[in-house]
Amino acid sequence: MIYIAPSLLAADFSNLAQDIERVRQAGANYLHLDVMDGVFVPNISFGPPVIESIRKKTKLFFDVHLMIKHPQRYIDNFVKAGADSITIHYESTSRPRDAIMKIKDFDVKAGIAISPNTPYEAVLPYLDIVDMVLVMTVEPGFGGQAMIPETLEKVRAIKNYIDEHEINVNIEVDGGITAENVHLALDAGANVIVAGSAIFRSKTPSKVIKQMREAEYSR
Ligand code: DX5
Ligand code: ZN
Repeated sequence: MIYIAPSLLAADFSNLAQDIERVRQAGANYLHLDVMDGVFVPNISFGPPVIESIRKKTKLFFDVHLMIKHPQRYIDNFVKAGADSITIHYESTSRPRDAIMKIKDFDVKAGIAISPNTPYEAVLPYLDIVDMVLVMTVEPGFGGQAMIPETLEKVRAIKNYIDEHEINVNIEVDGGITAENVHLALDAGANVIVAGSAIFRSKTPSKVIKQMREAEYSR
């Protein structure tokens, strides 16, 4: 089973509740929420107040992707706002394990993300405590970029590692994924697919999600 996670970054920010309902009806499993602080990445998006507001409008699983420095300082805020899963960046803190343990203490799912230039081995020490590994397929910071194919080699390496060691973690890909190239990510071993522009900017998001699921079945 693959999980489709539309990224809210590509939604119409003046109409969030309506746009979220549109992708839910189209078959989304998760809602991917990109939090950016203008320090860890050169862009600013939204934070806990927006998440808290949309939490009241939907029951979709909230997959929160923190692109912020010192993520451990803000875990409580995101849990209180309604996160179901929180992913921190390996590069954003000198103590990823502490941040992950803090997330787990709240009984919320935890993930670790790596940017394109970070080797896949960086996540291996955390596989015993995370539910998900997020392999960025673009440089974090902006939606609408082209997927970097080389990053999928890291997905493949992590998938091989977890299969070999019988570890049960999801592998998420994020950035530049479309109905046309999703098969490459699925072949590499990803099972959680983030797509911002491809889904929210489509007039027929249900078609895009269906095509993505078909890419899984026709493999
Ligand atoms: C980039 C974000 C992505 C982004 C994906 O930093 O983490 O989630 O919104 O958007 P698309 O699918 O448009 O590349
Ligand atoms: Zn993201």
